[in-house]
Amino acid sequence: MSTHLVTGISELTTQSSEEARPESAENRVLDAAMIVEHGRIAWIGPAANAPAADQRTDLGGRAVLPGWVDTHTHLVFAGDRSAEFEARMAGQPYSAGGIATTVAATRAATEEQLVVNALRLRLEAARQGTTFLETKTGYGLDLESETRSAVAAAAVADVVSYLGAHVVPPGIDRRDYLDLVTGPMLAAVAPYAGFVDVFCETGAFDVEESREVLLAGRAAGLGVRVHGNQLGHSGGVALAVELGASSVDHCNHLSDADVAALADSPTVATLLPACDLSTRQPLAPARRLLDAGASIAFATNCNPGSSYTSSMAFCVATAVLQMGLTVREAVWAATRGAARTVGAELGPGAVGSLRTGGHASFQVLDAPSVSHLAYRPGVPLTVAVWKNGERLGFAPPAGGLSL
Ligand code: NIG
Repeated sequence: MSTHLVTGISELTTQSSEEARPESAENRVLDAAMIVEHGRIAWIGPAANAPAADQRTDLGGRAVLPGWVDTHTHLVFAGDRSAEFEARMAGQPYSAGGIATTVAATRAATEEQLVVNALRLRLEAARQGTTFLETKTGYGLDLESETRSAVAAAAVADVVSYLGAHVVPPGIDRRDYLDLVTGPMLAAVAPYAGFVDVFCETGAFDVEESREVLLAGRAAGLGVRVHGNQLGHSGGVALAVELGASSVDHCNHLSDADVAALADSPTVATLLPACDLSTRQPLAPARRLLDAGASIAFATNCNPGSSYTSSMAFCVATAVLQMGLTVREAVWAATRGAARTVGAELGPGAVGSLRTGGHASFQVLDAPSVSHLAYRPGVPLTVAVWKNGERLGFAPPAGGLSL
C-alpha cells in the first residue's frame, strides 16, 4: 500500500485537542496537508512541511473535517408515515402511538427488504459525510422481528442498540412484554448489539420499567443509552445519570436539576434538532447545557416517524442558526462529541477526529471553511468522503469537481 498526500486543504478541522475544547486553536490547521497510509493518517500538518508521498490529491483549497458521527438512528423499518407528518404539520401532536404503524409494516417485511432499505439510508448518509453510524432495533417488537431487525442493523451500522423497549406492542400484556424484552429477546439480540436503549416516556415505559430494561441489558454486557425527556419531564435524564449511561437522547424538557445532573456526570446529552422541528417540540437547550458544563452531541434520529432525515449538516446548521451554538461547537458535537457516546472518542479506534495514527475518515466541503455549513444552510457542501483511507465512490456533483 502506497502513501497518499492530500493537499490543497484550506482549513483542516482536526478536533484533536487534548483539552477537548471546540474553539481551541490546536483543532484547526490552515493551508494543511495529510498523508494517508494503510487507512490511517500517517502525517498531518501545514502543507509547507509535508513530506513526499507516492500519490497526491490536490483538493484545490477546500475545507476538510472528520466524517460525521451519527449516533442516533432507527434505519431498520418498512413503510411510510408521511400522512402522519402531514397531519402533524396541520396541528396534530406527535405521540409514541405512531410507532405501531411502523411495527406492523416492519413485521410484514422480509429481512432482505429491511436490509435494502437500511442500506439505502446508510448510503444516503455516507454521501453526505457520515462515516460512522449507530442504528437501533425497535420496530419489530416480537422475538422473531427484533432478532431479524438486529441482523439487518448489524449489516449496515457500525454499532447497534437494542430497543426492544420502544413501546409495548398491541396484543401482549405489559408485564409479559417486559419479561420478553429482558429475557429471551435480549438473549437473541445481544450478540448483535453494543448498547441497550429504552424509550422512557409517557406512552412508552416509565422510570421503573426503564431501569429494569437497562439493568438487564447491562447484565448482558451492553452499554446503556436512554431516550429521555422528549415529550415531557419523563425522568429519563435522571435515570440515565443515575445509571452512568453513555448517552441520554432528545432532552427537550429539562429542569434545572436535570441540567445540573448532566453537567456533573459523564453522560452525554445527544440532541436531535431535526426531530425537534419535525415534531414541533421545543428545540433542546443546547446552549444552556454547554454553559452549565454538560457534554452534548448531535444526531439525526433518522426514522420514518419523528425525523426522516439523514443530514447531519442540517442538524449542525440548525444548532448554529437556532440553538445558539458557534459553528465549531456544533461541528464538535456532531463528530468528536458524538464519538464519546459510543466510547470511540480516544484511542486507536477513535472516530470524529483527525490525528496522526487515527482513522483517515474525513469529508471535503466545497467551501473554504466549516463556517459555510451554517453560512450556506441547506446547500449540499460535502463533495468527497473518505472512509478508512479510501475515497467512497459516489457520482460526482453537478459541475464535475475532479479531486
Ligand atoms: O427517537 N422517540 C422514540 N423513538 C423514535 C421515533 C419513533 C417513531 O416515531 O417512529 C425517536 O424519535
